[in-house]
Order: sequence, then C-alpha cells, then structure tokens
Amino acid sequence: MKNIISGIAIFLICACVLGRSASAQSVSTAADAAGNPWWQNAVFYEIYPRSFADSNNDGVGDLKGITSKLDYLKELGVDAIWISPCFPSPQVDFGYDVSDYENIDPMYGTMADFDVLASEAKKRGIHIILDFVVNHSSDQHSWFLDSKSSRTSAHRDWYIWRDGKGPGVPPNNWISTFGGSAWTLDPTTNQYYYHNFYAAQPDLNWRNPAVKDAMFDVTRWWYKRGVSGFRLDAVDTLFEDPDLKDNPIKTGQNAFGDPIEEDKYNTKLPEVHDVLRGLRKVADEHNAVLIGETWTADVAELNRYYGEGNNELQLPMDFLFTKVDKLSPAEFRKQIAAVDGASGWPTFVISNHDIVRSYDRYGDGQHNDQIAKLIAALYLTLRGTPIMYYGEEIGMKTTPPTRPEDVKDPIGRTGWPKEKGRDGERTPMQWDSSENAGFTKGMPWLPVPDTYKTHNVADELKDPDSVLVFYKNVLKLRHTNAALLDGSYAAINENDANVLSYVRLYKDHGVVVALNMSGSPQKVNLELKGKGFAGVKALLVTGKSSAKGSEVSLEPFGVFIGELRK
Ligand code: NOJ
Repeated sequence: MKNIISGIAIFLICACVLGRSASAQSVSTAADAAGNPWWQNAVFYEIYPRSFADSNNDGVGDLKGITSKLDYLKELGVDAIWISPCFPSPQVDFGYDVSDYENIDPMYGTMADFDVLASEAKKRGIHIILDFVVNHSSDQHSWFLDSKSSRTSAHRDWYIWRDGKGPGVPPNNWISTFGGSAWTLDPTTNQYYYHNFYAAQPDLNWRNPAVKDAMFDVTRWWYKRGVSGFRLDAVDTLFEDPDLKDNPIKTGQNAFGDPIEEDKYNTKLPEVHDVLRGLRKVADEHNAVLIGETWTADVAELNRYYGEGNNELQLPMDFLFTKVDKLSPAEFRKQIAAVDGASGWPTFVISNHDIVRSYDRYGDGQHNDQIAKLIAALYLTLRGTPIMYYGEEIGMKTTPPTRPEDVKDPIGRTGWPKEKGRDGERTPMQWDSSENAGFTKGMPWLPVPDTYKTHNVADELKDPDSVLVFYKNVLKLRHTNAALLDGSYAAINENDANVLSYVRLYKDHGVVVALNMSGSPQKVNLELKGKGFAGVKALLVTGKSSAKGSEVSLEPFGVFIGELRK
C-alpha cells in the first residue's frame, strides 16, 4: 500500500515537472513546477448561474447546466470557475441577498447537484470558487428574522441597529449604494437597521465575534465540500465607524437623485484587514484562494488588500484596469505598470456582472471582433491572473433593456433612465443559433440579444477566424509558454501612441506582445539587438500582422505575439 502511494506521489511530481497538461487531469493543490501556488497560473472564469445554461428549461440557468458545459470550459482553457451566488435567496439582488449560506437555492438545484458539479469539475482539473457575500445577508435569513424580532433577541447584535436622531430621522446621513438612506426603520422594535445596499440586504455586524465565527465556519463548511476558494463580495464595506459619524457631502447628485458622499466612515475601515487575515488563515489550511471585490482608488490601496507579507487576499481584483475606457496604449501602460509594481500578484478583470462588457467598452462599431481579440491578447498575456467573464470569449455584447417595464435589476428600476441597471451584461450565454441561443427551451429570464445569430459557441468553433478560436489559441499559448506564465513584464516602445508593446521574460526565454490600438496599420521596431535577441518568430497573430527582422507590422487593431530568438 505504502509503495503504491509513494508511486502515485512520484508520478504526480513527474507529471507536474514534465508537463502542465498531465497535472491538469486532477485539481492540482500543490505549487506548480516553478514553485508557484496553483491559483497563480490558473485562468479564472466567472459564471453568472442564472444566465449560463438551463438544464430544466424553466428559463433560469442552474448547476446541472454548468456541469453540462464543463467540457466546453476545459477545452477553452479554464482552470477555475467562480460561480456568482447560487445559495437560497429571495433574489432581490439576484442572489447577493443570501438567506442560507450553507445550501443551494432550489432554482439552481440541490446539494446533490452541487456535489456532482464539484466531482465532475475535479475530474477535469477545474477548481470551484464560490461567491461569499460577507457584508450582508438577506432580510429573510433566520439570523435577521430573529434579530428584528425583539431588542433582546439572541441575534439582535448580529446586525447594526440604532435609534433615529428624532422622529423620521435616521441615525446619520449615510446613503445606500443602491439609492436612498442606508437606514430603514423597523416598526417591530422602532429602531433603524443599516444596509449599505438594499433594505433587503442588512449589513452584518462584524464587530460581533459570534458573526465572525459563524461566517468563518461557512467557509470551512464549503472547503470540506470541495471548494477551492471564495470571491469575497463587497469587502470594502464590512465595517462602519462605531460612532456613526456623518459622511462629508460632495457637490452634485447621483443617478438615484441622492447627494454624493465621500464614504469616509463606512468604507475601507482598517478593521476589514483583521477579518481578511482571519479568513486567509482558514483558506491556507485548505490551500484555497481568496479573491476580493476590491474597488481601490490606487495601487497603494490595492496593496493594503494583499496585506503585510501577503497575508490577506491572494487575488484582490484590479478594477483600475476596467476603468481604462478607451483603447489608449498610454492609459493601459500606466495601469499595467502600476499593478505590476504592486506588493502581490496582479489580478486582471476585464468585465463582470456589474460592468459593461469589454466588447462595448472598446468596440468602435466596425472592428468589434478584431478589438475583442486585441483585448483578449492583452489581459491573457500579462503577468498576473486573469478573470474572464462568461461570454467575453464569443464577443457577447451588453444589451440593456430599452423600456423601463422590462428592467429586472432593481437599481435599473429606481435609477431609470440615468441608471438602466445591470441586465445588459447578464443576458443568457449564446451557445448556438437555435431559438434562445440554446440557453433554454423555456422563456429566458432575460431576453437573448439578437447577436446570438452571429456570435455563438457552436458557429464560432467552426470558424478559424472567430473571437472564440482566438481565445482558445491565446489561452493555449498562455498555459504552455513559460515566459507568459512566469516571466517578468517590461513595457517597450513606451512613447508609441498607437501600439502597446511589452516583453515577458523568463530566464533566457522571451515573448513579445504588440497590440495595435489604432484603426490604421502600424509598424513597430522592437530593437531586438539592444535587448540581446537576434529575431522574433510569430506565435499567434491576427490577420496579416507579421515580423521581419526587428520590425513588426500590424494591421488595424492587429495583434502580434512572438517568441524572441537569441
Ligand atoms: C457586488 C456584487 O458584484 C453586486 O452584483 C451586488 O449587487 C453587490 N455587491 C451587493 O452584494
């Protein structure tokens, strides 16, 4: 028995050293051949479960649907899926209002379905990351139902209750992110409770050790069930100033007609980091990863989320990257350089269920597919962990509702027409050109955009020039090229206003990436001799982009990825 075990261990070590594809057959928990933790070289993919694949044709996606698409994800080159909340929930904020942290909402299936998903994912070497809504629960959670029942209930102090300043006047001026006061008066006990988001999402009181223990135990519960980590929702807002000081008010109004506040006393309080250190300790016991929804103003703030000696979040998301809203080499260069100099491993996000899709952010209306490939070549070849969003790989487009009566996202209903909500980036995944894009045979919960006729998985797989095939190729390169996995990043030709170029160097091996962000052909001189290289060989290009000697020629919005030759 002992021999068999050590034989298996030797096989696994060899498989790891000899080739990454061999280790991909099982969920790797150990560091890779270069000594990096598993999450560092993994490609993450966010699934919005309502919209991914509907197995029972009720119009809403589900866990069995996700399981049925694991082969697709594996072939695409995905190593970890982050599933947006699939726990029991009244769905006021489509799952970001959790009423039971240790179960699956019947609309998505059962715990047995989850176990099947976990084991099927494991067989394919895909890790599962769940979305942990740490800041607040649903107002239908048994903790809150008890909390609101009386001023002396066992869970009273699990949430934040205060007297108003006077009749009809909330405890302070804090504004909810989703509109209106952040305080709601509950008539049962005649006190206000605090909610950074909707009134149906009361904030948990993280100053109460019982809350901390219960929430830490939730993570242990899921780790035992085979989960490899969590995306932590809204970590910025875990704590509030205990004295509830009023926030300073800026000028102007937001889309909901509320005054704009500087959220000084209810965002990014230092106590957040104690919690993150604690969650990280538990995660480390399970070789798990913590990804943070971290809306940081600059890299100094991002660094705080990595923690001292990297003892907090391994992957705080760099949203500054998504703030670059035009194809500007100078802007991207600046953001990449900033995060490349951060104190932890960079995490690149391109889009998600709250953000307009990259296809629309950067598309010019004429070369959108070309630009989608350019964006893929960018965020998938940088030094850092990429987090994809479902549908980006086929060029899905944000399709917001055109009539207020069609809006599903409540912030779209309260904020219409200035704020149309987030339905547009949550539309059903486009699998094929059949009715409803093959997402469901029922009535989809959100309409399927017309673009499914031209942009869908089945058709794009057959087209060597499609966005999807380009994604597959770039992901394959990323998984097999040491310079792309572990190499350093250095910008080159930094004064070029049209082309973003950089090299990734690993030992004596290098890759150059040149991305033409303009609508006209461009040439770039890589000046290879000065860098100790004799030439460059194309690895992956779009269109007729090519290299001759040290010179790279790029088509409008063209991509050139090449291997540097000594
Ligand atoms: C961030 C999530 O991404 C968003 O969808 C949600 O509405 C808020 N947090 C509240 O949980």
